[in-house]
Amino acid sequence: MQTMQEKSFDDLVERFLGMRLPRQMANAVSLSELPPYAQGFTMRMLALMKRSGYSVTEFNPALIRWLSASIPSMLPDAWGGRIPPITLPNRHSKLDVYVSNRNMAVGNEPHIFVDMGCGFPPVTAADTARKFPDWQIYGVDRSFADFVLYDKDGHYACFDQKGVFQYFQALMNLSGRALYADPEATGKRFNKFFADLFPLLQDTDGTASETVEKDGNKLIHNHIRDFETDNLTFVKSDIAELKLPPAKVIRCMNVLLYFQPEIRKTMLLQAGELLDDDGILIAGTNGLGIQARYAVYQKGADGLFPSEFAFSLDNIGHIAFMPWLTICENDPEAILLADLAGTIRADRPFWPEFSSRIDELLQEHEICERRSDGFLHFQRDNMPPDEYLKINALLWRQIEDEGYLDRAAAILERAGYETWINSAGDIAVRPLANSLPIADECDELKC
Ligand SMILES: C[S@@+](CC[C@H](N)C(=O)[O-])C[C@H]1O[C@@H](n2cnc3c(N)ncnc32)[C@H](O)[C@@H]1O
Repeated sequence: MQTMQEKSFDDLVERFLGMRLPRQMANAVSLSELPPYAQGFTMRMLALMKRSGYSVTEFNPALIRWLSASIPSMLPDAWGGRIPPITLPNRHSKLDVYVSNRNMAVGNEPHIFVDMGCGFPPVTAADTARKFPDWQIYGVDRSFADFVLYDKDGHYACFDQKGVFQYFQALMNLSGRALYADPEATGKRFNKFFADLFPLLQDTDGTASETVEKDGNKLIHNHIRDFETDNLTFVKSDIAELKLPPAKVIRCMNVLLYFQPEIRKTMLLQAGELLDDDGILIAGTNGLGIQARYAVYQKGADGLFPSEFAFSLDNIGHIAFMPWLTICENDPEAILLADLAGTIRADRPFWPEFSSRIDELLQEHEICERRSDGFLHFQRDNMPPDEYLKINALLWRQIEDEGYLDRAAAILERAGYETWINSAGDIAVRPLANSLPIADECDELKC
């Protein structure tokens, strides 16, 4: 029997999706050259694709690049096993809208909002603090880097107390893409800048923020202090040990996916204990504010229960990455999303019409076109990711304006799910029993 290493990527694509890729795409992924953790990722991705009725002809060069270049540098194994503090401004704007639409009246004391596993620099917690000036926001993470180095272009790297390089995050543009192409060289580059700048700091033992600059590069010690405001406080703590006043809202995005389902359940329970009686916990995964999947758990008289599972329609577009992003086997939210997406893809005549409309819009916006081999080909080889994201946002607005969101929701309703469009504009369903780590009737959770 062939081992996974002996099989080509294209063999696996054929095994899972029933057809081979065009040679150029297939050859762009060398399974044996991927680190083992990225090989495991590939298997999970193909299994999810199959489960969600994904057609091999939805495969495209952007997805191939993500798999071969981005994934190996995004997973914890690429960062010495550490969960990377990846975060981005406005990543959770839609969820902030969701929370504000719940209209929780403020009483004498400000409501508490916890951004659990807020990442670093904590830009999403800062966004939320600006959006809710009357609330008290806590950004919680088990680690905040001691030093942050921004290069002259705005790409940054985090260093620990001893000046050991931990992580870098590049901007979504072409120079950023180049940094990810050679992570080792990028690490050396940031180490060199650090060595140049560190001697310029005056107080390396202090707790206040201090910034030094040279040649346009900037090193900041205790950068976390720069984000503190009257309504934003940071707490360095593991979820398991966190002690805070009862929270109306806990947002735990892009954290639980790093943990096995059983551990997630424990973490959800721990977070649930920090909730106020009528509080909510939002937990899930998303990309740059796009391709979101999340569950909303509510604390009621009988304990914590999942009141909705929601996802954005762009998860079922042709150029999608996040529905395939899992770190552990049996990711419950990714599986639930795959099942819902599969139901939508199986619907005739919806799917062929929707799929053709996406093709048309991708071509109209000069992103890519479907050629005679049946696959999408990019019109420009080097479209900067930030430019693509702007066009992508327009495209999905158009798709929604044309009524596809409501039609997709109606398909799920007909399939037996209680379905609605939630106030973030995402498709929401009432989760079926046991589809999420915490089930509706989970006895342990009853008060
Ligand atoms: C990928 S970042 C996500 C950041 C942010 N929530 C976002 O969505 O942009 C995950 C963060 O979770 C933190 N984290 C992981 N496990 C944690 C735990 N048990 N307690 C507190 N923080 C944790 C990591 O340190 C990391 O900064």
